[in-house]
Amino acid sequence: MTGRTGCGAAGENLLGQELKFSGWVHRRRDHGGLIFIDLRDRSGLLQVVFNAEVSREAHALAHGLRGEYVIEVAGRLGKRPEGTENPDLPTGRVELYAQSLAILNEAAPLPFGLEDQDTSETLRLRHRYLDLRRPEMQKNLIARHKAVKAIRDYLDSEGFLEIETPMLTKSTPEGARDYLVPSRVNPGQFYALPQSPQLFKQILMASGYERYFQVARCFRDEDLRADRQPEFTQVDIETSFLDEHEIMRITEGMLAAAFRQVLGTDIGQKPFMKLSYKEAMERFGSDKPDLRFGMELTDMAAAAQKGTFKVFTDALAAGGRVMAINGKTMAGLSRKEIDTLTGEVKSFGAKGLAWIKLKGGFESPIAKFFPGEALREMASALNAEEGDMMLFIADSEKVVLNTLGRLRLELGRRLGLIREGWKFLWVTGYPLLEWDDEEGRFTAVHHPFTSPSDADVPRIMGGDINDKELLYSLKAKAYDVVLNGYEVGGGSIRIHRQDLQSRMFSMLGISRGDAEKKFGFLLEALQYGAPPHGGLALGLDRLVMLLCGADSIREVIAFPKTAKAADLMSGAPSGVEPKQLRELHIKLDIPEEEQ
Ligand code: AMO
Ligand code: AMP
Repeated sequence: MTGRTGCGAAGENLLGQELKFSGWVHRRRDHGGLIFIDLRDRSGLLQVVFNAEVSREAHALAHGLRGEYVIEVAGRLGKRPEGTENPDLPTGRVELYAQSLAILNEAAPLPFGLEDQDTSETLRLRHRYLDLRRPEMQKNLIARHKAVKAIRDYLDSEGFLEIETPMLTKSTPEGARDYLVPSRVNPGQFYALPQSPQLFKQILMASGYERYFQVARCFRDEDLRADRQPEFTQVDIETSFLDEHEIMRITEGMLAAAFRQVLGTDIGQKPFMKLSYKEAMERFGSDKPDLRFGMELTDMAAAAQKGTFKVFTDALAAGGRVMAINGKTMAGLSRKEIDTLTGEVKSFGAKGLAWIKLKGGFESPIAKFFPGEALREMASALNAEEGDMMLFIADSEKVVLNTLGRLRLELGRRLGLIREGWKFLWVTGYPLLEWDDEEGRFTAVHHPFTSPSDADVPRIMGGDINDKELLYSLKAKAYDVVLNGYEVGGGSIRIHRQDLQSRMFSMLGISRGDAEKKFGFLLEALQYGAPPHGGLALGLDRLVMLLCGADSIREVIAFPKTAKAADLMSGAPSGVEPKQLRELHIKLDIPEEEQ
């Protein structure tokens, strides 16, 4: 007899052979004289038949088998009798006639059936060791492995070196809170877990490595959503002497390699389409637009000015905008349904939702405020036809774009407009800085190390950096790669001149002393011959989620955390022994209501 064969490898080419399999009892059907087991291992399922006439002993033992027992069985592989084949199973034409059976381990009754489709996520995460046995999870983790392997091979072929950077670091601000780790040997001092390897990869460029990559774990203490985890993985790259177009080409190559390896598909058009940040916001109300459907935002200021609807004219007079989308085929919506929709846009931040149905004529409580000519102009701008409903929002530009962008996505989903397929694009032309009301200063849209556009460098070096107009007008050499409405990666060309980097810190309101304290090592490294450099990081979890057709990155991470950043299986985070805290010179100070 040979060694162990994988269940999924039991094909007709092995018919008649004596083989040994081991795995888990997936299903068991006891017909008395005949007992059928679906045996499962990583490679698939195989039907095993215990027949008292073949082996009395194995048959007797098989009576005691229960779901998820771990067994080893040996026997002869045969063809299933005609009419009993299972076309849904790759091994559905064969079965194993068991001659011997060994029970390697028993299993207690499971808290949920592995084939149940409606098990709560809490229960799945609590017993992740069982959840990971499900073929869907296996498929996802295998896809993840393949994607990483393909990307590694691709980057290797492009001359990239994989270099590890530290996990215990000084904080590199990327806009989220740091996870801190106390240092026992340096009382009162803390490391930060990296939000990304940003500064280390730039230092590697200063050190002459030219092309670096890392499959890097990153940590951000931020509010979690379906596409965010407190620890997640980036495919992080950095290059010297390349411009943004070359970095985009390499990124497209990485994505193409992953798609080819995992899905066997070509991702289509390269280079990817490009949209400026401004155009993406203006047309889709999002800096990560889903281009699988239209329903573009349309400016309605001109037509709105022709009417007397105060909500519209007031918004325009205040410097705001009036914009609309076409709710295709939505003229049949009842008042109640419209009220619900209005509630939704209010929860997105709008003050209300104005609507005009095309139903015979123009049907709407606000139609009376507009001359016929203006109504026709609106319909024509939106390509609205009989049966459609025009949906308007009037407010500040920010609110109009954001809320209509979210409404567009919601309606696209509801109306089934989102086509199958892969829509990649680059979003470029970002502003360098944005005003942060909370902090009362400008902050970097990407990060403080991102280079301004070439044209802006002399304006910054020679200009007045307290001039708000100037700061608002600066553009970044930054780019995000978007797939089907998700930001799957982002990067930039960096500042490689020390004087410009110092100036950037000043524009961000970081004092000379603070810059020295926080980023002194970077400023130093930049003064000893740092080459021009730039790079990007792909969000691996998001990419694999999309490749797998999953709707949360938790489905493609072996041991993810919940929205409260907890690992339900191991019970992290948890309290620690007083002794541990004493060694770290840490005293807890927790308000009563939080205990
Ligand atoms: P950025 O912050 O844009 O850039 O991150 C790069 C990509 O990482 C993914 N991502 C996340 N995925 C899961 N959970 C999260 N909490 C999370 N946060 C980000 C996104 C994002 O596009 N150092 C820069 C890169 C560079 O400039 O080279 C950086 O980290 O897909
Ligand atoms: P009102 O004048 O408040 O009764 O609102 C009349 C209609 O305009 C209602 O359908 C409101 O939902 C809608 N509306 C109110 N504010 C806005 C706004 N800022 N943008 C678009 N529609 C609005």
